[in-house]
Amino acid sequence: MPNITIINGPNLNLLGLREPNVYGKESFDQYLVQLKQQFPQVNYTYFQSNIEGEIVNAIQQYGFDQDGIIINPAAYTHTSVAIGDAIAAIKVPVIEVHISNVHAREEFRKISHVSAKVVGSIVGLGLQGYALATEWLLTNLK
Ligand code: DQA
Repeated sequence: MPNITIINGPNLNLLGLREPNVYGKESFDQYLVQLKQQFPQVNYTYFQSNIEGEIVNAIQQYGFDQDGIIINPAAYTHTSVAIGDAIAAIKVPVIEVHISNVHAREEFRKISHVSAKVVGSIVGLGLQGYALATEWLLTNLK
């Protein structure tokens, strides 16, 4: 069974409540139920933290024994050299997902410390980005 870890960064625990015009009305927990139904062959691990160092720890923890990591570092995308370095340090393929189109928003969201370290990025396609990232990982399993 393929093992995929999803790592979500700060404020993504408030999905559904938080700026629903930007991020939608669905909570991540609700979406995860659908995702698991869509990909019953995948063993998902889900980790969310509002704390930068905990995200670095999770990348290190899951970065050597999973089949893939899907990460949305949220606001830390734009600020965290440490998260970019952690992704560069691990072996597992990582896909960056952003729910909103970060390129169509404020200038500071166009900067990513993560994009150059990942296999690829999915941006602006809503929560479906996590399903698309899963599909890529499944068709490119090592
Ligand atoms: C986000 C985009 C970030 O700019 C923002 O800080 C987030 C969520 C997204 O998924 O669209 O918290 O990563």
